[in-house]
Amino acid sequence: MKKIIAVDGPAGAGKSTVSKLCAARLGYTYIDTGAMYRAVALKVIQSGKNLDENLIKDIEITLDESGKVFLDGIDVTKEIRTPEVSRGASNVAKFGFVRKKLTELQREMAKRGKVIMDGRDIGTQVLPNADLKIFLTASVDERAKRRFEELKAKNFPANLDQIKNEIILRDKQDSEREIAPLAQADDAILLDSTNLTVEQVVNKILELAQ
Ligand code: CDP
Repeated sequence: MKKIIAVDGPAGAGKSTVSKLCAARLGYTYIDTGAMYRAVALKVIQSGKNLDENLIKDIEITLDESGKVFLDGIDVTKEIRTPEVSRGASNVAKFGFVRKKLTELQREMAKRGKVIMDGRDIGTQVLPNADLKIFLTASVDERAKRRFEELKAKNFPANLDQIKNEIILRDKQDSEREIAPLAQADDAILLDSTNLTVEQVVNKILELAQ
């Protein structure tokens, strides 16, 4: 069984949904690194200050087993999912000092093994020796539709065209940044989920993990 699984891909590809389910089936810990960048973005927004090393020096980000996210001890699970924080996360993710800090935390979390970690740079930078690397993608229309449904289900105001544009913009920014851009690792397996159900993607990953 593969002990360390890395799942990367663009916004709304379904990484967190399938990673969470795979982790539950395997008895592994799921680590949502996007939630950590979102927590940094929320901290910047709430502080009203500019992002600098001092602001995140002692930042505490905790991911619990039930999927809750805590920022400096406060439950921010819901707050980090707004479109404003999505944009903010992509902005803070450009900074080397932010990536360094979060990458260290993520490697520490993966040390125990039996983890499935998702993000943008897990297979390329954070865990280059992962036992299994997946690059999960889907068409931009499908990804926008999924994010639209997700926001609606959470009672956030949502507009499909606007979501699609934001996804295109964020993917561009994430792929073109200088440090640790969104990229498929050479040894990652490409999985296009456009026409697959969640169950089909989960089964495929579990098969590969055997
Ligand atoms: O859920 P979604 O795919 O929309 O995004 P996310 O995984 O929560 O990540 C939010 C943002 O954090 C991304 O757009 C990236 O800019 C950044 N991120 C990153 O740079 N590196 C990671 N390992 C994870 C997220």
